[in-house]
Amino acid sequence: MSLFNFMVSKSIMHVPSPIVHYFAKDYVAGPSLDDAVNLSHELSQKGIETTLDILGEYITEKEQALPFKEECMTILETIKQENLDANLSVKPTQMGLLLDQEYAYNNLLDIVAKANELDIFIRLDMENTESLRGTLDIYRRLREEFPNHVGTAIQSYMRSSHDDVEALSDKHMNLRLVKGIFLVKRQYAWKDPELITANFVELLDQMLSYGAYVGIATHDEKLYFAAQKLIRKYKLTREQYEFQMLLGVDPELRDLIVAEGHRLRIYVHYGEKWLGYSRRRLLENPNIARAALGGILRGQKGN
Ligand code: FDA
Repeated sequence: MSLFNFMVSKSIMHVPSPIVHYFAKDYVAGPSLDDAVNLSHELSQKGIETTLDILGEYITEKEQALPFKEECMTILETIKQENLDANLSVKPTQMGLLLDQEYAYNNLLDIVAKANELDIFIRLDMENTESLRGTLDIYRRLREEFPNHVGTAIQSYMRSSHDDVEALSDKHMNLRLVKGIFLVKRQYAWKDPELITANFVELLDQMLSYGAYVGIATHDEKLYFAAQKLIRKYKLTREQYEFQMLLGVDPELRDLIVAEGHRLRIYVHYGEKWLGYSRRRLLENPNIARAALGGILRGQKGN
């Protein structure tokens, strides 16, 4: 970690909660599902779709998965009742992946079965290295039964990602492609930002060559440029891919992508645990602290 990143992350951790709240509120819908629903309606009026996510901790006891699972079921019913242009993102570790993989599979099976019944899509987020194999295994199993209602994410910083995509290519894939947010050892992940970006483009090419539906999740304009080239190369129609961004990050690029005729989905977090979540993410990845502090210093806020 550079000295600058270290100092930025440490100072952000000491910023008083109301100030963190002032800046974090652009990145989180609010404490309740109603906040996420209102925001989803607002974005929908601008032609933007959403994926909803309930913020939470890594769980340490299996029972702690149950309230998250219940909340996921409520989100699915709400998406249906409110007729939202939304789907649901779920963290497999919140369902107990690191405690008991079969238990997490069964929790996710119930959620995806319900989503299938309501015709809503579920995305399994990709988390740290310890959960990578389990998440891919669970995706593969759920995809057997619900091929149109479940997908997962692939991280371009992981050295294994090409092989992972290859291994999944025996059936139709629905993948979100991201650079990767967790701190991972060099043994497993590329560290050079240029290599991570180059690998993102190669993975996107690989996925599209297999006919995958890809959620191209980035705020990096170089990648938006490269993705547009690949969209043209594969002659994709608007329905065959989407771009994805995080709430509050670069709304100008977001509006540009929509104006240029692409589908765009915003990842909308909500939940009571927003403060702990924001602080932990800042500690986990000082590059985000750096981006947030840069925004604060420039007086920029998202919308
Ligand atoms: P890059 O990091 O180069 O950022 C490009 C620009 O965007 C920079 O100017 C930067 O400052 C700004 N920016 C990026 N992220 C920001 C932030 N959080 N706050 C403020 N500014 C920011 N990761 C993962 O490991 N597993 C997952 O399942 C997901 N899921 C996911 C869903 C969606 C919809 C998105 C957009 C991202 C993810 N991620 C993720 C996170 C992803 O791995 C990655 O860390 C971020 O998207 C940042 O990478 P960029 O491609 O945006 O490039």
